[in-house]
Order: sequence, then structure tokens, then C-alpha cells
Amino acid sequence: MLPSQVRLFVACLGLKAALGEASRLRIRQDVVTVTQTIVSPVPQPSVYDWAAGATTAYPIHSSCNATERALLSRGLGEAVALAAHAKDHILRFGNSSEFYSKYFGASPTAEVVGWYDKIVSADRSGIWFRCDDADGNCSQDGWAGHWRGENGTQETVICPLSYTTRQPLEGLCGYGYSVAGGALNFYFGSDLVHRLYHLPKIGEGIVEHYADTYGECLELALRDPALAARNSHTLQYFALDVYAFDIAVPGEGCTGRPSEPGDPDTTAGTTPSATTTAATECHTHADGTEHCS
Ligand SMILES: *[C@@H]1O[C@H](CO)[C@@H](O)[C@H](O)[C@H]1NC(C)=O
Ligand SMILES: *[C@@H]1O[C@H](CO)[C@@H](O)[C@H](O)[C@H]1NC(C)=O
Ligand SMILES: *[C@@H]1O[C@H](CO)[C@@H](O)[C@H](O)[C@H]1NC(C)=O
Ligand SMILES: *[C@@H]1O[C@H](CO)[C@@H](O)[C@H](O)[C@H]1NC(C)=O
Ligand SMILES: [Zn+2]
Repeated sequence: MLPSQVRLFVACLGLKAALGEASRLRIRQDVVTVTQTIVSPVPQPSVYDWAAGATTAYPIHSSCNATERALLSRGLGEAVALAAHAKDHILRFGNSSEFYSKYFGASPTAEVVGWYDKIVSADRSGIWFRCDDADGNCSQDGWAGHWRGENGTQETVICPLSYTTRQPLEGLCGYGYSVAGGALNFYFGSDLVHRLYHLPKIGEGIVEHYADTYGECLELALRDPALAARNSHTLQYFALDVYAFDIAVPGEGCTGRPSEPGDPDTTAGTTPSATTTAATECHTHADGTEHCS
């Protein structure tokens, strides 16, 4: 329809409603007159929709069965919830947050906010979470999933082990977990935050491994704040720490302290720590190095 035809039709409807059914002939004549004098009283529907074709949910491959799909979409929702709250915490408190300065030092806040927002809001087209063990790596002991690297840079394989070992975010601070002493992949949500940053679409090849353990991440915040802002483990630790303190156990959290060899809390004789039984997460990086944590 041409714009003028649209306007005629709309104006006709409007007039009919206003004047009733009294004189159809007169109405028709009036319509012609009115239409010519209207500039654009009715907002025209926009032809261009900038967001058309956007992919707003992380795509889960058809190789995932109903159970895998349900658990994976739940885990991805938790990854988004962690990232969204990390962003909100920074927007609320800026660098005056003790959590912020602990993990990101003197780094400006905007880039960190941006990395979390990538997980929350970036378009997801081309990304795939698949369950078919496409590279034949799931049978290897301890493999719960991997980034496909050269075989599919925007793709992640999630192995069956993930569904039996990764905890729900509602359990944050439970099961004997603490941020400093626990594994970053103990919760499905935080594990998937890491996996998402491996995808160029989300991490842009910039968010990478620059420091691994809790202690190393705190040290990086002091030594090289700019790199801390791009360190995938730092982004995971901060998100878990502030979600724990602000939401899971309000005002208390579960930062804890790093587990060390010989630490009476973690040596034999006490209840085995749930945090140390989380399955190993291994994946190969772009440079070919294999990484397990
Ligand atoms: C915190 O941010 C302000 C700007 O908002 C800046 O002037 C200040 O140096 C920052 N402090 C630290 C410790 O990074
Ligand atoms: C890519 O796929 C091939 C064939 O399935 C496999 O042999 C190879 O190990 C895969 N490469 C990586 C990096 O996983
Ligand atoms: C799959 O496992 C093989 C053997 O350990 C390794 O060479 C390959 O890089 C792995 N593939 C991925 C995508 O991690
Ligand atoms: C679906 O996948 C899960 C986890 O990999 C597996 O335990 C389960 O047996 C599968 N269900 C069916 C019906 O094959
Ligand atoms: Zn990694």
C-alpha cells in the first residue's frame, strides 16, 4: 500500500466512526477533501525495524534431548543472572565497591560493565550449545564440555557430566562452597559464564586467561588492572562474590578464604568438601593450549 492509500483508509475509518452511518454519500465526498489536507496526523507504522532478526536466546542445538535442553537453558539463564547482577552492582556502586576494587583495582568501570553486558544483551546468532559430542571428547575422563575451537569458534559442546555435577545458582553459598575456596565451575551458571567468554561473539578474543586462582586474580588487580578487567576468571569471581553478598545471602555472602594445602578445613579427616568434587572443566584455547580447572 502506498502511504497516501494508507492515510485514506485510516481517515475513512475515523470519519465513519465519528459521523455514524447517516449519509454514506456525503461521508465519501468528505473523505476525499479531508485526506488531501491531512499532513500526517496518524503515526505511520515504521517500515524499518532495526531489531528484526535478532537472536535473543542462546541457541540450543537439536542434538540436546529434552532433559539436556531444560537444564542447559536453566544454566544459561543463571549465567545471564550472574552477569546482569554484576553489572547492576557496578552501576550502583562504581569503584567505591570493595568488591570492585578487590577484583578490578584501579580499572575504569565501563569496560567491565561492558563485558557483563555482552553476556546479558549481545545478539546470540551463530552461537550453539550442542550435546552431540561433535569432537569426540566427552568420553575423556573429567570432561564436562569444551569450546570447539577451530572446529566451530562460536560453538560449545556440553558433555553429560555437566548435568550431574553442576549446581544450581539457588545453592550459592550452600554445599560448603565459598568464593575464595570453591571451584569456578561449581555452579552451572558461573561455568557457563566462562564458556560464553570463549566465544568470539561474546569475549571478542579479548576476554581470556590472564590469571587463574583466586589469589592470582587479586594479585592481577593490583599489578595490571586493565588486564584484570579482561580476565575471564576475575569476571567469574566478581560475579559470584557480589551475587552471593547482595542476593543469595544478603549482607553476608560467602567470600571465605582460599583453600591451601595443609589447611585444616580441607585436609582428610573432615567431611569431604563439596567444592573439591566438582568435575574438571577442560577445553582447548585458540593457541592450542589445553586448560583444565
Ligand atoms: C574511582 O573513579 C573515579 C572516577 O569516577 C576516579 O577519579 C578514581 O581515581 C577512582 N578510584 C580508584 C581507586 O580507582
Ligand atoms: C575437529 O574435528 C575432528 C574430526 O571430528 C577431530 O578429529 C579433531 O580432534 C577436532 N579438533 C579439535 C580441536 O577438537
Ligand atoms: C579434544 O581432545 C583432543 C585430545 O585430547 C584434543 O587434541 C582436542 O584439542 C580436543 N578438542 C577440543 C575442542 O578441546
Ligand atoms: C538425555 O540426556 C541426559 C544427559 O546427557 C541423559 O542422562 C539422558 O539419559 C538422556 N535422555 C534420553 C531419553 O536419552
Ligand atoms: Zn577457558
